Amino acid sequence: MKILILGLPGSGKSTQVEKLAEHLGVGTIKMSGLLRERALLSDDLALKLRDIMGKGELVPDEIVAEMIKTEAQKEKYQEGFVMEGYPRTVEQVQLFDPGFDKVIYLKIPVEVSKARLVARGREDDTAEVIETRLKVQMEDLEHILDSFKETLVEIDGTHGIDEVFNEVCAHLT
Ligand code: AP5
Repeated sequence: MKILILGLPGSGKSTQVEKLAEHLGVGTIKMSGLLRERALLSDDLALKLRDIMGKGELVPDEIVAEMIKTEAQKEKYQEGFVMEGYPRTVEQVQLFDPGFDKVIYLKIPVEVSKARLVARGREDDTAEVIETRLKVQMEDLEHILDSFKETLVEIDGTHGIDEVFNEVCAHLT
């Protein structure tokens, strides 16, 4: 089973991906995890990634598409996967779409997004960077949701973590 989790920053994508993958016994594919790992190297691309991600801007479509495609083709995901962080633009949908069985959209208001990120306090959870992340990620969101409308399920992401998880699971049967 191939599942995609979409949502604004702080909507709980990462949290739910982990829980769901464990529940289903499949692997997780997190775009930002792949990017952060790549950014640890000491070449020009790593420098570029650190700069872009540090500002909350989007990494160029071709770079992320190539990385996620390579990862998703690995043998370990033959039984499926739970993915998050890709796609974030309409262009990315066109560059790589593995054919998701279910697409889950965790819907939260912008205020909830900001409050959760500020409380978490990751390196890129500063007020300025949060504003940029929200702006760039909201730009194509409606179009992305529309392109997955056949398999899309919208869930209220403001509920508690376990409640959201139970609701996600209820839609997988
Ligand atoms: P990324 O790390 O994916 O950042 P993001 O989308 O802003 O998402 P977050 O990790 O902040 O939020 P989340 O929805 O995963 O929430 P989480 O579960 O952690 O991307 C970082 C950067 O990488 C981007 O800015 C960009 O530069 C680059 N990038 C990544 N993908 C890209 C792409 N495709 N194209 C181009 N560039 C790309 O939860 C957040 C907090 O809320 C936690 O503290 C959690 O405990 C809490 N929480 C979660 N659920 C609940 C709940 N139900 N109730 C209460 N609290 C909750």
